[in-house]
Amino acid sequence: MLDHLTIVTHPLVQHKLTIMRKKETSTAGFRRLLREISLLLAYEVTRELDMTTMRIETPICEMDAPILDGKKLALISILRAGNGLMDGILELIPAARVGFIGLYRDPETLQPVQYYAKVPEMLESRLVIAVDPMLATGNSSVAAIDLLKAAGATNIRFLCLLAAPEGIARMKAAHPDVPIVTAAVDEKLNDHGYIVPGLGDAGDRMFGTK
Ligand code: URA
Repeated sequence: MLDHLTIVTHPLVQHKLTIMRKKETSTAGFRRLLREISLLLAYEVTRELDMTTMRIETPICEMDAPILDGKKLALISILRAGNGLMDGILELIPAARVGFIGLYRDPETLQPVQYYAKVPEMLESRLVIAVDPMLATGNSSVAAIDLLKAAGATNIRFLCLLAAPEGIARMKAAHPDVPIVTAAVDEKLNDHGYIVPGLGDAGDRMFGTK
């Protein structure tokens, strides 16, 4: 069982994150780093998957070799910034089933508003990994996990790049059974719900919008 919070302190992750935070990093650079970092984060969030063995024959002899067990895992991107994290993870786990949850943050209330949801079937028998680069207020993440549980998921992990203490606390209160994996926990949220020091709006930085 993963802890409720795992901070991935690997030097490569921390180095790449620092470059992503810099305001002068280009859209292309940000996207490339996000893809690279997502591979390293995927390695952590997929720890402790169920395993079984398969009888195989090497050029030397037969052996019982380890392979993943159970149904293909489900990756759920919380739109739109989740897609940037998901693309890299899919390179590592190409057979994963993929779902999308569309939520936007009402700028006044900071509450999530759902505009789209399409998730794989049989979530109850899959490991479900929800991805969103920024765990800020936690409102969107909690709403996304609510939706996944309502769709049957019981084994869920949440992967982000940056988290605020407020978001972690909110997730822990609402979904204590969902481990969070992140590259860093920043200081706080500002009055607009942005993570400080953060990296700005992850969606805008990866898609070059304003
Ligand atoms: N979403 C972002 O993209 N950035 C933040 O700092 C908070 C939420």
